[in-house]
Amino acid sequence: MSKPKFYLTTPIYYPSDNLHIGHTYTTVAADSIKRFKSLQGYDVFFTTGSDEHGQKIQTKAKENEVGPKEYVDGIVANIKELWKMLEIDYDCFIRSTDEHHEKMVQKIFTKLYEKGEIYKSVYNGHYCTPCESFWTDAQLVDEDKCPDCGRPTHLEEEEAYFFKLSNYRDRLLKLYEDNPEFIQPESRKNEMINNFLKDGLEDLCVSRTTFDWGIKVPFDEKHVVYVWIDALSCYLSALGFDGEDGEKYKEFWPANVHLVGKEIVRFHTIIWPALLMALELPLPKKVFGHGWILFEDDKMSKSKGNVIYPEPIIELYGIDSFKYFLLREFTFGQDGSFSREKFLQRLNSDLANDLGNLVSRTVTMVEKYNEGIIPAPKTEEEVDASLRDLAITVADKVEAEMDKLNFSIALEEIWKLIRRTNKYVDETMPWVLAKEENKDRLDTVLYNLSESLRIVSILIKPFMEKTSDEIRRQLGIQVEANWQDAKVWNPDVANIVDNKVEKGNIIFPRLDVQKELVRLNEANQKLIDSRTNNSEKKEDKVEENKEVKEQEVIEEVEEITIDDFDKVKLKLAKVINCEDHPKADKLLVLTLKLGEETRTVVSGIKKYYSAEDLIGKKVVVVTNLKPVKLRGIESRGMVLAAEDDEGKLSLLTTLTELNDGASIS
Ligand code: ME8
Ligand code: MG
Repeated sequence: MSKPKFYLTTPIYYPSDNLHIGHTYTTVAADSIKRFKSLQGYDVFFTTGSDEHGQKIQTKAKENEVGPKEYVDGIVANIKELWKMLEIDYDCFIRSTDEHHEKMVQKIFTKLYEKGEIYKSVYNGHYCTPCESFWTDAQLVDEDKCPDCGRPTHLEEEEAYFFKLSNYRDRLLKLYEDNPEFIQPESRKNEMINNFLKDGLEDLCVSRTTFDWGIKVPFDEKHVVYVWIDALSCYLSALGFDGEDGEKYKEFWPANVHLVGKEIVRFHTIIWPALLMALELPLPKKVFGHGWILFEDDKMSKSKGNVIYPEPIIELYGIDSFKYFLLREFTFGQDGSFSREKFLQRLNSDLANDLGNLVSRTVTMVEKYNEGIIPAPKTEEEVDASLRDLAITVADKVEAEMDKLNFSIALEEIWKLIRRTNKYVDETMPWVLAKEENKDRLDTVLYNLSESLRIVSILIKPFMEKTSDEIRRQLGIQVEANWQDAKVWNPDVANIVDNKVEKGNIIFPRLDVQKELVRLNEANQKLIDSRTNNSEKKEDKVEENKEVKEQEVIEEVEEITIDDFDKVKLKLAKVINCEDHPKADKLLVLTLKLGEETRTVVSGIKKYYSAEDLIGKKVVVVTNLKPVKLRGIESRGMVLAAEDDEGKLSLLTTLTELNDGASIS
C-alpha cells in the first residue's frame, strides 16, 4: 500500500537580508512536522524558498551596487547555509527566479486574463515600498502609515492589471464556514472575517510598471507581475506544476498546511484561495498563522540593534537545544518574547537536569550494577505499572497535540514522562536494592528505566534527532526508531533486553547562566558587527560614489535656454488662509490670492511653518504646474522655498512689498 501524502510549506522568505530567529522559527516548526509525519508513516513533501522579486530587493541591490540577481544569490546562499546548519530536511527550495516558476506564473496570469478574472485599469493608492503593498484610505493607520509595518506610505497612480477579488467574498466566507479548520488558530479567522471580508473586498492590483525586477506580463511587457501571484504560486511550482499539471503536483496538491506568520495570514486565506478558485484548482486544507517572536517584548529590527541571529546560539549550544527551546518556550499561535536568560534556564532545567540527567544515571547504573547489560524485568510492583501506564500513552497525546500544532504542549507531555522517570529512580532507589542484593527488583528497575528512555528517544525524534540518536546509541539500540514502538512496553521488535549500553559524553551539561549570558551576547554582537562592517564598507563605497556622481552632476549641469525657463510661470501670491491638512501630518493647505484669482495649494512645509505664521505673507508660486490631489485635496501650484545644507528652510518672497499677482521672470 502506498503511503498517505502530506504537503507542507513555509513562506518563501525575502532575501533582502539575512534571516533571524523569527524566520528560523517557522522553518524549525515545519521541519519538526515533516519529521513527525514521516515517523507516522506519511510520505511528506516540504517546501521552503525565497521570494526574490520586487522593488525593495531591486533598491537594496542598487545600494549594494550589484544586479538584483547577484544580490539575492548571496543572501540565498546564506539562507541555505543556515538550513544546512540546522539540518532542515526540506524537499524543495523554490526560488521565485527559477525559470520553471517564472514560466508557470506567466501561464497562470495569461489564463486568468483570458478567463476575465484579470482586467486592465488604473491604480490609485497609498503604497508602502518595504511591504510592497497598496493600501486604501480606510486601511491606513496614523494618517498615512502602513497598517503592517507602521512606516509612511506614499501616493501612487499607475496603469495596472487587477484581479477580481471582489467577486470572491461570499465564496470565501462559505469556505471558512464549511471548513472550520481552514484558518488556524480560530482568532485569526475572526480577524479575517471582521477586518477584511465583512465590508466586502476590493479588486487586487496584480501588476506594476514602476519597476522591472519581476516576471513580465507575457502579453503586456511593460508590466511585471506584482508580488502575491508570483509569491503564492511558488507552492505550486515547487511541486513541478506547469500551469496545467505536474507529477508531484498530482501526488501532493492540495497542501495539508501552509505555515505562515500572522502578518501574512490575509494573503494566504483571502487572496490565495480566491486565485485558486479562479484557476479552478483545489484549495489548501489549512493555513496556520503563528505568532511573532519578539525580543524582550519588542519587535526585532536591525535599526534597534536587537536582532537575534540563530547562528551563534547553534554554534555554542547545538541545534537540538535551539530547536527544543523555540518549540517548547512559545505557544505557536501567539506572540512570544525571546530572552537569553529564558533560553539558558530551559537548557539547565529541561535539558540538563531532566533529560540529560536521566540518560546519564540510567546508563551509569546499568554499567555499575549489571556490567553494562540491560537486564530482563522480573518482579513487578505498583510503581512500575504507574511508570509503564504513563509511558505508553504519551505518543497518543503527542499525536493529538501535533494535529493542532501545539508543539509546546506536545513537548511538555514528553517531559512529564521524563520527569516521572527521574522520580521513579528516587522512588525505587536502585543503589539500596544493590546494597540489599535484591537482584530481581534491581533488574526490573534497570530495565524499566531503560525502556522508558527508549520510548522517550522515539518521542523526541521529530524535534531533536541528534539527541534521539545519541540516546539510542547509548542504549545499544540498533533498529531505526519507529513511532508505533513508542506505544508498546517491552515490544518484540524493539526489545532492548541484553543490549550492551555504551556511555557517552554528558548530552546536556549544566551551564553557568551568568557566564553564558556574556558569551552569547558577545557572539551575537560579533556576528552583527561582521555583518554591519560588511555593509558599512559597502555604504562607504556608496557614499564615495555618490560624491563622485555629485561632482559629475556639477560639471554636467544641463543648460537650458530662456525659452525653457519661460515655460515656468511664476507669480507672487498672498496667503489669505492657511490650515493643517485634515488627513496628513506634514501638509499645510494654503489659500492664495494672485490678483483677481484665488487658488488652493497643498505644501509639505508644516515642519517649518505653522498655519498662523503664514497668513498675510507673500510667497512665490509656480502657477502652471499640473494639478495633483494630495490626500484628497487638489493642489493647484507649488510654493517655492530655499533650503540650506543645515536643513533650514525659508519660503521665497520679495525684498520690496509688491501687489499679489505680480509676475516673476
Ligand atoms: O513575508 N517571529 O517574507 P518575509 C516569527 N516573502 N516569525 C517571523 C518573524 C518573527 N519575529 N519574522 C519573520 C514574506 N517571521 C513573503 C512571504 S509567502 C508566499 C511570501 C517569519 O521574509 C514568519 O513566518 O517577510 C513570516 O511570515 C515570514 O518569516 C515572512 O518572511
Ligand atoms: Mg514580512
